[in-house]
Amino acid sequence: MSHEKVEKNIGLMMVLIIIVISFGGLVEIVPLFYIKDTTEPVEGLKPYTALQLEGRDVYVREGCYVCHSQMIRPFRAETERYGHYSVAGEFVYDHPFQWGSKRTGPDLARVGGRYSDEWHRVHMINPRDVVPESNMPGFPWLDETKLDGELTGKKMEVMNTLVSATCNGCTTYSDAEIAAAGDAVRGKTELDALVAYLQALGTSIKTRR
Ligand code: HEC
Repeated sequence: MSHEKVEKNIGLMMVLIIIVISFGGLVEIVPLFYIKDTTEPVEGLKPYTALQLEGRDVYVREGCYVCHSQMIRPFRAETERYGHYSVAGEFVYDHPFQWGSKRTGPDLARVGGRYSDEWHRVHMINPRDVVPESNMPGFPWLDETKLDGELTGKKMEVMNTLVSATCNGCTTYSDAEIAAAGDAVRGKTELDALVAYLQALGTSIKTRR
């Protein structure tokens, strides 16, 4: 029987397994390149401003993703708490994305607009001033560190390269925006930038409860 041949010949078995896995992989992966949903911005999504982009870098540098996800799953318990589940088109300007997988603190995908700027400032400097039971660390140095804006324009150029390679219908930064970026952020603190970034999160889909 031919099946017996396959089972007794490990070389042949390996070749056949590789063919089956490759085929299965292609069937799953290839369609992704043709689905527009994953590469088009949702309506109303704006690219990060120069200040928000700097804030995003602070978020990455401080490792906020270690305790916070930015990905609301399509389950009742999640959407009741955080708002509309996350969709692929919301992340087209996120390079690298900050979905995360650990939730020591709440998901932040739709935290934008949930609190005032002032609340965030107090909370970031010492979380216990507004949430007494919080075990989130304070980040007081962000309020003392000023941005010099030297690399902001460069970061926007890099974003343009990444966005135009991966996204249909995304807006890239204009030369004028890139030229003005340094001045737009210079003198602002890292905390200003981080708060601006947090306030933009998830606001293109407005269904937060
Ligand atoms: C060690 C884990 C940890 C780290 C690191 C951490 N957080 Fe938190 N965060 C928490 C916890 C726990 C809470 C819930 C209690 C509270 O509100 O303080 C929280 C709450 C928050 C909230 C309020 C969310 C809401 O919906 O109420 C924001 C905003 C936030 N964190 C932002 C940040 C940012 C920005 C950073 C990085 C600079 C950061 N966190 C780093 C644990 C952490």
